Amino acid sequence: MSNNIYLPHIAVIKDIKEETGDIRTFTLAFKDRGLKKSFSFRPGQFMMVSVFQAGEVPISISSSPTQPGNLQLSIKKAGSLTGKIHGHKVGDEIGLRGPYGRSFPVERLIGKNLLFVAGGIGLAPLRSLINYVLDKRTEFGRVTILHGARTPSDIPFRHELSRWPKERDVKVLVTVDRPDSKWRGSVGPVTTLWNKADLSGQDTLAIICGPPVMISFVVMDLLKMGFSEDDIISTLERHMKCGVGKCGHCSIGHQLTCVDGPVFTYREMKELPTDL
Ligand SMILES: Cc1cc2nc3c(=O)[nH]c(=O)nc-3n(C[C@H](O)[C@H](O)[C@H](O)COP(=O)(O)OP(=O)(O)OC[C@H]3O[C@@H](n4cnc5c(N)ncnc54)[C@H](O)[C@@H]3O)c2cc1C
Ligand code: FES
Repeated sequence: MSNNIYLPHIAVIKDIKEETGDIRTFTLAFKDRGLKKSFSFRPGQFMMVSVFQAGEVPISISSSPTQPGNLQLSIKKAGSLTGKIHGHKVGDEIGLRGPYGRSFPVERLIGKNLLFVAGGIGLAPLRSLINYVLDKRTEFGRVTILHGARTPSDIPFRHELSRWPKERDVKVLVTVDRPDSKWRGSVGPVTTLWNKADLSGQDTLAIICGPPVMISFVVMDLLKMGFSEDDIISTLERHMKCGVGKCGHCSIGHQLTCVDGPVFTYREMKELPTDL
């Protein structure tokens, strides 16, 4: 096998699940049997996904490493490349490089209560960590999952959002910006869910993923609630080219999002020249 780090490995699409009108979960299997067996990753890492002769995009792994042989990427149709990926069918092939990036600090979460806050497709990388935590349930404390979507039809992973609260000490709350006539749940940004979530900053780590404006508001509120800067963990998105720290395309100040991130604590983030 070639040692060229830029050469993608071929993966076959085994299944495609329509999550919403513009988000699909692709289940993939590497063609190379050795790689299929040896591939490992940590929650929060991403893959560089390529469509042959079209280009590459970074996409987080949305499945959990506790469910090996079930590599999943949940992809929102955002533009040209993701549009092309959405045009693929079961049995088609795509290219994959990775896993890349700093993962969620799983070992630091052991024994803690966990608060997950996701906006839109931001639930994809958190889904990897949530399923990891629930597959190792006894190692973690109380789990609270807050999710904000634009409309009820934009809520992904509906099956899991209903299954997760059946586990011990797991609470799931969902809110939408724009309800439809059937919606009976919360309306407003994800921060409107604070008072329903029984949160205490004590012994709780917050893990956030979503659009930058949502992250800003969530972080401001968590700091007011008494969360320490080290106990707020979030992801930062930047345009990427190489994914491996060589091109400098994803730099924020002296940090490269692809290797130093995409997962950062708020203490690390606030040192960066970014509004998030
Ligand atoms: C580490 C990381 C993990 C990601 N994980 C996921 C995931 O799990 N699922 C998912 O659907 N998407 C994810 N993304 C975002 C995804 O990479 C972009 O949506 C994709 O690159 C858009 O490519 P495109 O060719 O389809 O769109 P383009 O035609 O290139 O652009 C469409 C629009 O998206 C914007 N855009 C493109 N790339 C980015 C980016 N990196 N950050 C912010 N805006 C961008 C462009 O400015 C433009 O407005 C992730 C991004 C990063 C950096
Ligand atoms: S994408 Fe090239 S250095 Fe990060």
